[in-house]
Amino acid sequence: MGNGRCTLTAPPFSYVDRRVLVVGGGRGIGRAVALALARAGADVAVAARGREQLDAVVAEIQALGRQAWALPVDLTEPGAPGDLVERALAALGRIDVLINSAGDTGRLERGTFNVTTDDFDHVFGLHVRAALMTSIRAAESMRDRGIAGAILTITSVGGCFPSPGAVLYGAAKAALNHITSTLGMEFGTHGIRVNAIAPGPVETELIADRLTTSEDRAAMASFYPLNRIGHVDDVASAALYLCSAEASWLSGVTLLLNGGQHASSGMFRWPRTHNPVPPGRRI
Ligand SMILES: NC(=O)c1ccc[n+]([C@@H]2O[C@H](COP(=O)([O-])OP(=O)(O)OC[C@H]3O[C@@H](n4cnc5c(N)ncnc54)[C@H](OP(=O)(O)O)[C@@H]3O)[C@@H](O)[C@H]2O)c1
Repeated sequence: MGNGRCTLTAPPFSYVDRRVLVVGGGRGIGRAVALALARAGADVAVAARGREQLDAVVAEIQALGRQAWALPVDLTEPGAPGDLVERALAALGRIDVLINSAGDTGRLERGTFNVTTDDFDHVFGLHVRAALMTSIRAAESMRDRGIAGAILTITSVGGCFPSPGAVLYGAAKAALNHITSTLGMEFGTHGIRVNAIAPGPVETELIADRLTTSEDRAAMASFYPLNRIGHVDDVASAALYLCSAEASWLSGVTLLLNGGQHASSGMFRWPRTHNPVPPGRRI
């Protein structure tokens, strides 16, 4: 046992003849994953609200010699995720890989005491309802066609550890981590794998307002043992593996991709701005 010949030289991560739907593929992490899978041979449909960004990604994928489709959608509409999967199936013919990468910051700027039920509905609608429904509908299509497909959701370390001020975002991402392990168990019977990547900060438009100066960047990087902020290609590399044939025995897993931070303490350090000790208090 375990002494068989090792045949793996370099992982090929081939996606030739694979059909992929990337939800949130107009920019940022989703765009990087869409391009990485297209470079590895996949035909890709990208979905988001902004038509211009989708068209630009489609042109980039076509320039790689692959087929591509733009599927505009607003995922905050309750029926939109299911409709999107139907439209993707009509365009692609089938879905082998589903990537859920759509999201926003979850109205973090409001602060916890100002959270409203509308905020709750927005954050849970966009993150939880949308990714759960695209996953169920896509898995159903895989099951019906006998496809051993892969589903990958981009969650966040904010769903693994508490982050003051981000209660809705964190709770939604935690729900997605839970959904990942539950669907991983349930869909495994059909050969369908379900995984998640929980990144720390990745340089995209999503967090651009927190990285406007070199001091901001250095301060954020200092929270991470590997001393830098994440790049979209860090996430794309992990996605290439998780959705590949090489990962065919991996399911129900949330991969923490955060520059080694979880190894340092498991907790977010409190930025001083969040919890200053009042002058004169005995500690
Ligand atoms: N960047 C980070 O530091 C970081 C860290 C951890 C987790 N994440 C997660 O990673 C995912 C991708 O984030 P990112 O950094 O790539 O952000 P991004 O650059 O802002 O991209 C987000 C994508 O989601 C789409 N989207 C947003 N709202 C939508 C809606 N209502 N309907 C349909 N599509 C919508 C956006 O397109 P439109 O605006 O055109 O619709 C865009 O294509 C998110 O789930 C985010 O929570 C990001």
